[in-house]
Amino acid sequence: MITVENLSKRYGELRAVDRISFEVQKGELFGFLGPNGAGKTTSISMISGLLKPNEGAVRVAEYDVWENPKQAKQLMGLVPQDLALYEEFSAMENLLFWGGLYGVSRSKLKKNIHEILERVGLAGRAKEPVSRFSGGMKRRLNLAIGLIHEPKIILLDEPTVGIDPQARNNILDIIREIAREGRTILFTTHHLEEAEKLCDRIAIMDHGRILQIGSVNELARVVGDKDIITIRGRFSAAQINECLSECPIAFINLEDNLVKLNIKEENGFGIASLVTRLTQYKITIEDLSLQKPTLESVFLKLTGRELRD
Ligand SMILES: Nc1ncnc2c1ncn2[C@@H]1O[C@H](COP(=O)(O)OP(=O)(O)O)[C@@H](O)[C@H]1O
Ligand SMILES: [Mg+2]
Repeated sequence: MITVENLSKRYGELRAVDRISFEVQKGELFGFLGPNGAGKTTSISMISGLLKPNEGAVRVAEYDVWENPKQAKQLMGLVPQDLALYEEFSAMENLLFWGGLYGVSRSKLKKNIHEILERVGLAGRAKEPVSRFSGGMKRRLNLAIGLIHEPKIILLDEPTVGIDPQARNNILDIIREIAREGRTILFTTHHLEEAEKLCDRIAIMDHGRILQIGSVNELARVVGDKDIITIRGRFSAAQINECLSECPIAFINLEDNLVKLNIKEENGFGIASLVTRLTQYKITIEDLSLQKPTLESVFLKLTGRELRD
């Protein structure tokens, strides 16, 4: 449904998006996961036809976004990261305005607006000025605008940014419901749990590049299916390096006072041997825990940093 090939955007020396390629299948819920500045908004702006790439191509169904912008755009609904709402207008008026821009007929708009407001839980507040809405309500109206012309593909750029957890769950439920109707969804987030809970497949993005694509299970295999051992204590990264350099382990993360690792092969060498070894080197362990691989550990392994809310 969406095919992206070698897409790039440069701002001077900065490669905001650096040769990304991927496909989103029809009916798929596909997530872009990455920290602020990773290149998510730049990517989605190019895919939606708002921003011209330096190189690469985007195809939506059978249309090239730059050769057939009109047809391609008609298939897509964009829900931008920055709210595109008129505060002094009501929810209904905002939808009428945007629907008109998309060329939806008046009679169709009347019907769609009612259904969409119902769906995003704003039917009871349709005639109030948006300036009176809470952050969560504004996000829901922003989402509604992206649905007004009944697009087959919906692009959502951080649809839950800046709202409380309850309002966030509310939005996630709506997205899930839209996906169940067989529409194709591409959404971006910097919340790990959000991507983990919602997506069929995830592209992990950092510094303008896609580092890995897969389902949560596929991605987990990147760090192997072995337990992750986390050790906290009073030690330096250099001490740990020296102590464990000859052991059959792989570091996932190593910093002063914190190390995360896998044991590569268990025959003979296990947690007991690890602890013995650390003790021999007079390294004080304050806490040791085991954990199954998660998206967080994959992210850490691929980017070398943690992704925190
Ligand atoms: N118009 C622009 N001019 C210069 N640099 C930009 C512009 N837009 C984005 N950038 C830079 O490109 C990088 C990616 O930004 P963006 O796509 O907004 O990331 P994200 O949405 O993942 O937070 C950032 O380093 C950002 O500062
Ligand atoms: Mg962004």
